[in-house]
Amino acid sequence: MKLVSRQEYEAATAATRDKRMEWWREARFGMFIHYGLYSILGRMEWVQMKEGIPVDEYAKLADQFAPKEGAAEEWVRTAKEAGMKYCVLTTRHHEGFSLWDSKVNPFNSVNLGPHRDIVREFVDACRKYDMRIGFYSSLMDWHHPDGWKCAYDPEARRRFTKYLDDLNTELLTNYGKIDILWYDVSCPMESFEGWDSLARNQHLRELQPDIIINNRSMLPEDFDTPEEKVMASDRDWESCLTFNRVAFGYVDSDQVRSYTHDTPWLLDRLQHCTQECGNLLLNIGPTPDGSVPKENVRQLKELGEWLKLNGEAVYGKMTRKTKINPGPTEAKLNFDGNGVTRGTGKGNKVYLWNVVWPKDGTMGFPGYPKAPKRVYFLQDGKDIDFTYDNYRIVLKNLPKEIPDKIAGVTVIVLEFDEAPENYWGALYPQLNGGYDVTGRN
Ligand code: GLC
Repeated sequence: MKLVSRQEYEAATAATRDKRMEWWREARFGMFIHYGLYSILGRMEWVQMKEGIPVDEYAKLADQFAPKEGAAEEWVRTAKEAGMKYCVLTTRHHEGFSLWDSKVNPFNSVNLGPHRDIVREFVDACRKYDMRIGFYSSLMDWHHPDGWKCAYDPEARRRFTKYLDDLNTELLTNYGKIDILWYDVSCPMESFEGWDSLARNQHLRELQPDIIINNRSMLPEDFDTPEEKVMASDRDWESCLTFNRVAFGYVDSDQVRSYTHDTPWLLDRLQHCTQECGNLLLNIGPTPDGSVPKENVRQLKELGEWLKLNGEAVYGKMTRKTKINPGPTEAKLNFDGNGVTRGTGKGNKVYLWNVVWPKDGTMGFPGYPKAPKRVYFLQDGKDIDFTYDNYRIVLKNLPKEIPDKIAGVTVIVLEFDEAPENYWGALYPQLNGGYDVTGRN
């Protein structure tokens, strides 16, 4: 393979990015799956380091590693039913245990424990349920003898970066078309040069030309990865969130229940990601036998039911709220819609996700200089009565009870003749020279 400079490489990947990422940008919502030896202990995925378990003692967990039959299919089926479009599995976390039949890393789930290729089972399940496939691949490795020495021993660094290239080559050669390579934790080296990321990523892209690579191999690559927060970048980005603000790996279900997010909160994160045209990668940490944690099941089911009715407000090419690098002239936008709704936009439609339902049958949506041609509930297409006075839409005769019975989040659609220049409702009156922003009085 002829290696090219970083500049040439990044020009080449930029030239293909829109095509490679079109499906990803429209997919919006994926499942992160953290499963490994740490799941057995149930005290999060860094337990080996956080509890100082000696490497050899920790490695004995492999003999107890016993995913039930059909575990991977359960993850992917659950993701499908939750309205997710792609899944990302930890093929090997920081513990260094490979969940596949690796000839490079003997510390794996075929040589030890279940004697099964979990990655194969995961890939087969994704293909069965038409889910795009992501491989999480940790750079940091607590098991490999060079995993730390590589930072100060040139020979160890050479061996270890070759090891990483070989591991990821196995993954991107032996399992068919893979859609995402999700690197994690570039530690202990502190540069893309130290990790040989430029050469490795060029090689891996040769194996999988359509692959999408995240920003965690010390090169920006295709997308940013804000973690445990929704933080929009001015390029492609994906928020990865735990289900409980405690850990990505399994933690005891009964003890974590009170920290576990409920459906309305998850929808709020999904809305925020959608509004800024980013993705949400929602994590599950399967139990020791590989089951989807019981405290996540209802919410995932509800998300799927809700998205069946309201997916139009989430999937596909959305209109981004925050103009990239807004200039001083950017109108200061109030809350989207009004104080109790959040918005997403697509073309000539504004989707207002209503989280507090009015008890008096009416609600105002100011800031729209043109009248909508129609206002209706997304979930069933039922029209909503409204008045308009050159600035303010006022809904009338709303039902007393909130229409959405799944999560209490009802989407109201404002449909205009053309894309509104302001999707997001009320403007501060001061910006328009006074409180009468429409000349009504
Ligand atoms: C952090 C955690 C790691 C987890 C990753 C997911 O890097 O250290 O355990 O896999 O976040 O984004």
